[in-house]
Amino acid sequence: MRSLIVGTGSYAPEKVLTNADLEKLVDTNDQWIVERTGIRARHIAAPEQATSDLAIEAAKRALEMAQVDPKDLDLIVMGTITPDYPWPSTAALLQGRLGNKKAFAFDVSAACAGSLYALSIADRYVSTGVAKRALVIGAELLTRIVDWKDRNTCVLFGDGAGAMVLAPSTDEKRGIQSIHLHADGSAWQMLHQAGPGSRNPLTAEMYAQGKHHLFMNGREVYKFAVRALEEACRETLAASELSPSDVTWVCAHQANKRILDSTLERLEIPESKCWMNLEKYGNTSSASLPMTLDEANRAGWLKPGDLILTTAIGAGMAWGAGLIRW
Ligand SMILES: CC(C)(COP(=O)(O)OP(=O)(O)OC[C@H]1O[C@@H](n2cnc3c(N)ncnc32)[C@H](O)[C@@H]1OP(=O)(O)O)[C@@H](O)C(=O)NCCC(=O)NCCS
Repeated sequence: MRSLIVGTGSYAPEKVLTNADLEKLVDTNDQWIVERTGIRARHIAAPEQATSDLAIEAAKRALEMAQVDPKDLDLIVMGTITPDYPWPSTAALLQGRLGNKKAFAFDVSAACAGSLYALSIADRYVSTGVAKRALVIGAELLTRIVDWKDRNTCVLFGDGAGAMVLAPSTDEKRGIQSIHLHADGSAWQMLHQAGPGSRNPLTAEMYAQGKHHLFMNGREVYKFAVRALEEACRETLAASELSPSDVTWVCAHQANKRILDSTLERLEIPESKCWMNLEKYGNTSSASLPMTLDEANRAGWLKPGDLILTTAIGAGMAWGAGLIRW
């Protein structure tokens, strides 16, 4: 049995921060940001909003499309590295807020690959009949951990949430074909948040050293990403004995337009097949993949039978790719 995505939803906070706004905060300019990343604006959560507030909006929209009552969910799995609290999981908070009593719920920590990891886990439960209805979320408030004085990173990220509802497919050809995940923990330092945690507990010194901020070696991440994404896409296509030319649409994590363009070029997939929304949202980490899928879906791009290639990469390093017969 395959699992099918029967509903998608997304939510971006109201406030928009443009590149021109950023020029007032750090020494940067619109041209540099657009040329290097493709980003023109990003959405920023209101001070009173936490990750579950974004997640619940996306979840409600996906559940409505799927015509699934939140009380009927058997599983809620959320990719996030910016949870409401260190614990319990934001997925558990969401279960409570949705009025659901029977789903088991947990978060997955795989940074920007979080929703792909979460989708892969939910797919295993649904395709084996253990769960009949699963909610998969990617929700992130990265702007809370970004150093707003660091032009290398603060221009790249935005807040948002995306959701997918999975159910068993009644047509054996449709649904998730396979998802292939990878990790390379030897590269963890490329992209990380050093504290607070058991290695660097919450102290005034840790805070003064800025260890609570997101750290990234952009150049190293870029090189790693381009190679890893191409390999993962080829691996997932090969598993179904398909080639890049069979792909109808690409709905991928939006980290950087140049990373996506170069992945597409290596795969010889035309850019016109890839839904891009980076210019509006920036990199929304785990939210980006389901937000992209939802936009493409609601725009009428995704038709039953279409072959969707998806891929994502994030801190860990953690990455992967998957194929979905819509
Ligand atoms: C971050 C990224 C856009 C930087 O582009 P780059 O071409 O590698 O640029 P570099 O880091 O080499 O910096 C080039 C110069 O621009 C400067 N610069 C960095 N950020 C800047 C900004 N926002 N505005 C203006 N100049 C900036 C640097 O200080 C550097 O100046 P220098 O040469 O005087 O030292 C790019 O490396 C990238 O996209 N990496 C992947 C990031 C990513 O996707 N992360 C998430 C993965 S999920």
